[in-house]
Amino acid sequence: MQIVLIMESIIMNKTIFEPKCLLVTGAAGFIGSNFVHYWLSKYPDNKVISLDALTYAGNRANLSELETHHNFEFVHADILDTNKIELLLEQHSIDTIVHFAAESHVDRSIHGPDAFLKTNIEGSHSLLKAAKKVWLDKQIMKHRFHHVSTDEVYGTLAADAPAFTEKNQYLPNSPYAASKASSDHIVRSYHHTYGLNTTISNCSNNYGPYQFPEKLIPLIIANCLDGKPLPIYGDGKQIRDWLYVDDHNRGIDLIIRNGQIDNTYNIGGNNEWTNIDIVTLVCELMDQHHPEGAPHSQLITYVKDRLGHDRRYAINATKIMSELSYKPEETFETGIRKTIQWYLDNEQWWRKIMDGSYRDWIEKNYT
Ligand code: NAD
Ligand code: DAU
Repeated sequence: MQIVLIMESIIMNKTIFEPKCLLVTGAAGFIGSNFVHYWLSKYPDNKVISLDALTYAGNRANLSELETHHNFEFVHADILDTNKIELLLEQHSIDTIVHFAAESHVDRSIHGPDAFLKTNIEGSHSLLKAAKKVWLDKQIMKHRFHHVSTDEVYGTLAADAPAFTEKNQYLPNSPYAASKASSDHIVRSYHHTYGLNTTISNCSNNYGPYQFPEKLIPLIIANCLDGKPLPIYGDGKQIRDWLYVDDHNRGIDLIIRNGQIDNTYNIGGNNEWTNIDIVTLVCELMDQHHPEGAPHSQLITYVKDRLGHDRRYAINATKIMSELSYKPEETFETGIRKTIQWYLDNEQWWRKIMDGSYRDWIEKNYT
């Protein structure tokens, strides 16, 4: 009966689960903050508890426009603090956890893997323990734990290999990818062992507003504006599959509401680019927006390659497209133009990050 109902709701695209109060971890980071904006504009009646430890990557200013929203609340806390998470789950009758919090930068994981293992593995486990205690021990069966993961867990692809499906073997290559792979397994185990209602998404590279300017696309935009070198690792022929951040969030929304428990969904937009091609494209668009520095491609500088650099990622998103009617709304053309415009319009935002002064601003405004 249960299976028939689930099949019916998938075919009819009916909602299986209606969240009322969400705990979003990593809410002050790139995707997390976009997610909170997305969710509260689409579901203003849902309460969103936005939790973040405000590491170097977390910036409360990403959420400043929401501070006055009646259903927004910011909590400065670490996901490793299990007691605090339990308290929040009980206090607010949270029924949905959307778990973005992580150490997310591959280069940093190469220089210092410890923080990645601590946050991504132990931190995820801490959240699962709290969810188990509050939801399962008290038999609150209407709940969801959505874990946001990455395509990097699948390792690297040869040039002619088919894109990653959910059935690909896990072959993580960097400490970051390995820590995310571990957390995926622990999430899975909490469903199989204890019956927690979990779902996982594995998404490809995101781009869009509020991305920390040490990641490729915002770094290139900022350096074009400052006439600084545009560093290309190795030969620049590595391939990434780029998705606009709100198209990732639309996928997570569908999974939370209509996805099947204990399922993994790949999210991607079938948009593979070599690094050198994407940097060249951003340079061409910057030539139009900022003609003083043109041609910006003269700033391209080949540098030493990343250790263990994965050659190619590509996502096969057939499952989420066919089961949950997922379709990205942004084309790469519209998404990249929007993104460049956002960085041009919000120069202060990334300049403050680059010179570190955003920390003083946060202190002045929020402490
Ligand atoms: P990000 O680094 O911009 O944000 C991570 C946020 O988590 C930051 O605000 C940080 O302060 C917070 N955080 C870190 N440790 C914490 C802790 N112990 N407790 C509470 N908060 C903590 O990362 P992002 O790019 O927004 O990625 C978000 C999630 O999406 C990650 O889980 C990442 O693995 C996954 N993901 C990212 C991409 C991408 O292209 N950026 C693609 C697929 C999946
Ligand atoms: O695939 C999803 C992953 O995408 C997420 O899980 C990660 O959290 C996210 O950071 C991202 O990882 P990448 O390593 O792919 O992103 P990054 O922006 O650091 O680099 C993109 C590509 O560009 C990669 O092949 C390395 C290259 N690169 C990056 C930088 C910062 C350069 O050539 N030069 C650079 O200066």
